[in-house]
Amino acid sequence: MNIVTPSEIELGHKSSDKAPWWKGAVIYHIYPRSFYDSNGDGIGDLRGCIEKLDHIASLGVDAIWLSPFFKSPQADYGYDISDYKEIDPTFGTLDDFDDLVEQAHSRGLKIIIDQVYAHTSDQHAWFEESRQSRKNVKSDWYVWADPKIDGMPPNNWQSVFGGPAWEWDARRQQYFMHNFLKEQPQLNVHNLDVQNAILEIMRFWIDRGVDGFRMDAINFAMHNRAMTDNPPSNLERSRVTRPFDMQKRIHNQSQPEIPLFMERIRKELDKHGEIFTVAEIGGDEALSEMRDYTYGDKRLNSAYSFDFLDGPPVSADKVRGTLGNWIGEDGEGWPSWAFENHDAPRAVSRWAKPENRWFAARNYMMLLLSLRGNAFIYQGEELGLPQGEVAFEHLKDPEAIANWPRTLGRDGARVPMPWNKNADHAGFTTGTPWIPVDPKQAELAVDTQTDDIPCMLRFTKYAMGVRKRTLALRLGSMTFMDTHNSSVLAFMRRHDEEHIMCVYNFSDKHSKWNHHLGKGWKVMFSHDGMSDGWEVPHDLPAYSAYWAKLTK
Ligand code: NOJ
Repeated sequence: MNIVTPSEIELGHKSSDKAPWWKGAVIYHIYPRSFYDSNGDGIGDLRGCIEKLDHIASLGVDAIWLSPFFKSPQADYGYDISDYKEIDPTFGTLDDFDDLVEQAHSRGLKIIIDQVYAHTSDQHAWFEESRQSRKNVKSDWYVWADPKIDGMPPNNWQSVFGGPAWEWDARRQQYFMHNFLKEQPQLNVHNLDVQNAILEIMRFWIDRGVDGFRMDAINFAMHNRAMTDNPPSNLERSRVTRPFDMQKRIHNQSQPEIPLFMERIRKELDKHGEIFTVAEIGGDEALSEMRDYTYGDKRLNSAYSFDFLDGPPVSADKVRGTLGNWIGEDGEGWPSWAFENHDAPRAVSRWAKPENRWFAARNYMMLLLSLRGNAFIYQGEELGLPQGEVAFEHLKDPEAIANWPRTLGRDGARVPMPWNKNADHAGFTTGTPWIPVDPKQAELAVDTQTDDIPCMLRFTKYAMGVRKRTLALRLGSMTFMDTHNSSVLAFMRRHDEEHIMCVYNFSDKHSKWNHHLGKGWKVMFSHDGMSDGWEVPHDLPAYSAYWAKLTK
């Protein structure tokens, strides 16, 4: 795969405004457990989501993606599903879900659900049956293997959360595979019966009105049936916290048959109108897999990876390098981007010092909304929340606990959403929250950020509004401009006659940059609310950003 960093190439020059609803959409990501608790049990729920729909609609987003709320023992907080067609009682009922869909639709919001097809819970009826014997209808629905002659697991595969990817099962006298927790046995998605069952689950939710599916860890869906050992990775050992990272994961995941399964999914979904599909892709080969899984018009619509969720801070080179791989070639899919989610520390805390947070949060919001692709906004990102702090004794995330103190895990991104600064638990619950609210975040609660004061929430709404009205930002091509300054990123988005220049200073120092595009450029939106219609500045204060429009 060639990595291109073009300044002269116009990425995606053939975009059109006759786009499906999801193309260029802004999608609000809810982690239901931490969003809003309607019944005082300390855990957010579907009714809570319904109660806060007006907040979400007021942002001007197009859709909501909900992390899993299906029946689950919650070993990995819902990413371990024990019944794909039931709602976990902690989150509500199917009636609540139907109501959520109806009420979201009535506000013009689409609903995307999170589907985990690479593994189930060990308490799923399929697994219960599969583990009974080596000869039952579902015996091949999971990945089972005999021990080696010395009793060891069949190969060296490691799990993401730490330790071998194999767990011994006394009944079958075999190991079963798990890429994540041992409570998340790996489905054998090579098996066509498993694929059929997945398609049936998709139909079930489409019938209930969902508009799209986010496919969790989908490049983990298939393993190499030859069970070959993974080779070692070249990662420097001091940078590695888990044995998982000490291997090149070429056999436990990312198998060439996965795109064929994507094609089966797409064929089914095409019968039901514009159902959006987006793959979550992790790992070292994320970029080529994103491209592969979305290639042509027979696979998924979109994919996102951890490009901006981990790794080095955002920079001009980073954005050029990453976006430069989506140049709008024939057959190319449509990317999606996230700077924050329930798996990653908040971007403002990862990328900027606390004293710069006010402008940095605005800079990143504008950047996300101006990249060519879909934008995922994680709950609280609209408030500019910093990473939550969670004391060791309050940690819940199994990954955090297993790898402590080398990684603080994901709890800091999952602390409850602050709604009311002065209410108990920032208004998230009337009970005891499942994980404590961070008082620092409570200072930025929704009720402190009203439309009549300059605040991040108001800023987010303005920025969303501008994106929504501006086809060039939603669907346009993208051309990078040379700034000769590594702190400054500048690119052009264009749709027909509409030209938008987007400029970012990622540094905490003043920078200068002068475009050479001639006259007629007027600021339409900026990090500090600079008036519409101003001449574009060449002096760029720390963390400043602006979008400018070419006027006649
Ligand atoms: C990715 C999800 O985002 C994460 O939260 C989960 O733990 C793993 N997939 C396993 O399902």
